Order: sequence, then structure tokens, then C-alpha cells
Amino acid sequence: MYVCLCNAIRDREFAAAANGAANVADVFRRCGRKPQCGKCLPDVANFIEETLVEAGSMKAIAAE
Ligand code: FES
Repeated sequence: MYVCLCNAIRDREFAAAANGAANVADVFRRCGRKPQCGKCLPDVANFIEETLVEAGSMKAIAAE
């Protein structure tokens, strides 16, 4: 599914780029593109948050 229509970036590409990204601009840089209209920025931020939650869950599981 396309998340960023301006740049034709799909959810899978954002999910991969968000892993370890510092911020939304970093995700776009990793995708080799720049934000344009900005409508997708909250969704991109959610991808970063999801990767952080997943990383935290993995650390919690590893610590058990
Ligand atoms: S939809 Fe992503 S910058 Fe416009």
C-alpha cells in the first residue's frame, strides 16, 4: 500500500527505512527522497514508533 503518494513510497519501504531511524527526515533520506506535501508525515512517525516498540519488546524478552 502506498503511504506517501507524492513520492510513491509503500508501507514496506517505510517500515524498513524506519528501523533505527532518528526521525521522519531520516526515514525519507534512507528512502532517497524528500517530503513534499507532508500529509504522510504522521504515518512515517508511526513507523518509527512501531520499530521502537518492537525493539523494546525484544529487549524485554531477551532480559527475561
Ligand atoms: S504524501 Fe508524503 S509527502 Fe506528500
